[in-house]
Amino acid sequence: MPLVETFRTISRNLRAPAHRRQAFHRLEHLHADRPSLDDLVRQAIKLGTHGWYRVRSLQIPSEILSLAQAVEAIKPRVILEIGTARGGTALIWAHLASHKLITCDLLDKRGFADLVRAFPPPGSTCKVEVLIGDSHAPDFIQRVKNALRGELVDFLFIDGDHTEAGVGQDFENYRGLVRPGGLIAFHDIAEKQPLATNQVQHFWKRIRGQHDVREFVADRGQCGFGIGVIRTPLQNAAGA
Ligand SMILES: C[S@@+](CC[C@H](N)C(=O)[O-])C[C@H]1O[C@@H](n2cnc3c(N)ncnc32)[C@H](O)[C@@H]1O
Repeated sequence: MPLVETFRTISRNLRAPAHRRQAFHRLEHLHADRPSLDDLVRQAIKLGTHGWYRVRSLQIPSEILSLAQAVEAIKPRVILEIGTARGGTALIWAHLASHKLITCDLLDKRGFADLVRAFPPPGSTCKVEVLIGDSHAPDFIQRVKNALRGELVDFLFIDGDHTEAGVGQDFENYRGLVRPGGLIAFHDIAEKQPLATNQVQHFWKRIRGQHDVREFVADRGQCGFGIGVIRTPLQNAAGA
């Protein structure tokens, strides 16, 4: 680990108890404010928490708001997210799912999962499960199925591995868990992307003609971002 990163980690660890208190306090404020969806999305992009408890999301506000509105419209009971990162989008989904949010990531961030589990607002019947592991691994897919306990997913957000093969694997592995008429969304479908490893746009171009799709792209010339959404057919859900 480079020296700067080592110092950053030590510093974060030392300040973790204070950051944790501040983050839970900040979340209480957010809940007390009963934010509109618009406001929730704005705060999820940068909640104002720090260190291991930093909640944020790299999203274009208009794009993620359009997606959140589309998800809200289907009154989701169960949401599955691949790619928790700093929890920004999980914070939104935890306010929209009435029963369960399962959010998955490769990386564990010391105590952060406790904060994510506290995301649903007071009075919500949504329970959050944070699963750590590789979404492509067969035993991990089984863990997701176990967490679902036989229930179907209303909304699947695929925002994990951004390689063409990786996003394709997530789609194939989890699409069968989505109910007929449910939604599957992909982040970073914009034609121009800042990193060679962002290849979701290639995957999206291959599959969009075969599905009922919507695209939320703020500016067709932008570099990065862009959200593609599939509505699954009302009949013939693919087998998991
Ligand atoms: C772009 S971030 C997710 C951002 C988040 N959805 C948001 O907007 O708030 C992608 C995350 O996916 C995770 N990831 C990448 N490959 C993965 C894999 N194979 N399984 C699980 N998580 C993965 C990374 O660790 C990273 O935290």
